[in-house]
Amino acid sequence: MEDLTALDSGFCWGAATAAYQVEGAVAEDGRLPSIWDTFSRVPGAINGGDTGDVACDHYHRWPEDVALMRRLGLNAYRFSVAWPRVVPTGAGAVNPRGLAFYDRLVDALLEAGIRPFVTLYHWDLPQALQDLGGWPERETAYRFAEYAAVVAGALGDRVTDWTTVNEPLCSAWIGHLEGHMAPGMTDLRAAVRASHHLHLAHGLGVEAIRANAVLPASIGVVYNLSPCEPASDRDADLAATVRMDGHVNRWWLDPTAGRGYPADMVEVYGTEPPVRDGDLETIAAPLDYLGLNYYFRQIVADDPGGPAPYARQMPVPGATTTAMGWEVHPAGLEQLLLRLTDEYKARTLYVTESGSAFADEVRPDGSVEDPQRTEHLEAHLASCVRAARSGAPVRGYFAWSLLDNFEWAYGYDKRFGLVHVDFTTQARTVKASGHRYAEIIRAHQS
Ligand code: IFM
Repeated sequence: MEDLTALDSGFCWGAATAAYQVEGAVAEDGRLPSIWDTFSRVPGAINGGDTGDVACDHYHRWPEDVALMRRLGLNAYRFSVAWPRVVPTGAGAVNPRGLAFYDRLVDALLEAGIRPFVTLYHWDLPQALQDLGGWPERETAYRFAEYAAVVAGALGDRVTDWTTVNEPLCSAWIGHLEGHMAPGMTDLRAAVRASHHLHLAHGLGVEAIRANAVLPASIGVVYNLSPCEPASDRDADLAATVRMDGHVNRWWLDPTAGRGYPADMVEVYGTEPPVRDGDLETIAAPLDYLGLNYYFRQIVADDPGGPAPYARQMPVPGATTTAMGWEVHPAGLEQLLLRLTDEYKARTLYVTESGSAFADEVRPDGSVEDPQRTEHLEAHLASCVRAARSGAPVRGYFAWSLLDNFEWAYGYDKRFGLVHVDFTTQARTVKASGHRYAEIIRAHQS
C-alpha cells in the first residue's frame, strides 16, 4: 500500500449511499412516489423485477448503520436526501416527517464524529414533477431550487457540506437518451433539454443553499467522469474519442467552469440546449469543490449507427473486470484528478464515489472475503496519493458504497458494499474490504 502521508491530515475518509438505493420505506411518513418507484415497476426495466421498496431498510435501521460507520472509523458520510420524502409532490407543501428523518440522521452522525455530506439530488425526482414533463421542462429546475432552500434551511445549521446534483449524466443521457434508467426515455432532444435543466438546477441550487444555510456552506457538484482513449489510431476512432469525451466529460465540466456548452457537441447532438439569458452565469456559480465519481475509463470506437455521440465503449482484451463488466483501471482516477486540477483549475476535489461490485457471500464462519474489492480499494487510494503528490487538491475519498444496495436497473444482484447486506434478514456483515478500509483509516490518522 502506498504511503498515505501525501494525503491531507484533515482528509475525509468516507463512504457513500443514495436515498432510493438504501432507504426503503417508500410509502411511509408521507413520502410519495419518485420516478424510480414508477420505473422499477415497468416490466423488464429492472433485473429480477427488484424495486427500492425495502432496499436496506436504512430508513428504520439508520442507528445500526451509523454505528457501523463508527466501527469502520469513517469521519465522513455522503448520503442523499429524497426529494419525494421532503416535498412529496415536488412543489409546495413540505413534509415535516420526511425532514425529521434527515434531522435525526444528521444529529446522530455529528454525535458519532462523522461529517455529513448531503446530496440533494440522486435521481429520485418526484413523480408528480415527471407528470408535468420532468427534467426536459425548465420549471423542474425552479422546483429543485425551492426544495434545496427547504433542506438547506432545515439542516444548514449543522450541515456544512453540500452537493447539488449527483451524476447528471445518468439522469440526462441514461434516463432520457438510452432509456435504461428512470424515466426511461429515448429522445435526444429531450435528453439535451434535461441536461440543461439539470445544470440550471445545480446553479440555482447553489444560490438557494448559500441563501438558506446558517453555517458557511461548502458546495459542489458531483460528476461521473471517464478518461477516453481511442481503440485504434484510425481517424474515425480518434474523432469518436473526442465526441465521447465531449459527451461524458466536457458537456458537464465546461458549463460549470464558465466555458459554456462545447460547440462541437452541440453540433454532434444537432440540437441546442434551451439556454436563456443569464443561465450560463448561474450554472457557472463559483464552487467550493468538485466531486468526482470514478469507475472506469472508456476505450472508444466510432459507431455511426449508434445513438449520440455515435461512439462506442469497447471491451479491453485481458482486462480485469468487476461484476458490472467494468475494467479495473486505477490509473484513470489519477488521470482525472490531475485533469480537473490542471485543465479545470479545481481548488478542492473529493472522490465522492469509487468502488467495485463482486459476487460476495457470507461464509459459514460469518466472514465475507472480498480480496478483489480490497485490491480495488487500495489501488484507487494509491492513485489518489499519486495525484495528491503531483499537486491535485484531493481532500477526501468516499467508498461506494457503505452497504450493498439497490443498484438501479441491475437490482440487488450487484454488490458494491463494504458491508454485506442479506436482503432477506437485513443482517449486516462487514466485509474483509471494510475491515481493511478501517485499518487504512486508522493508520492514516495515527
Ligand atoms: O450505484 C451507483 C450510484 O448510484 C451512482 N454512481 C455509480 C454507482 C454504481 O453504479
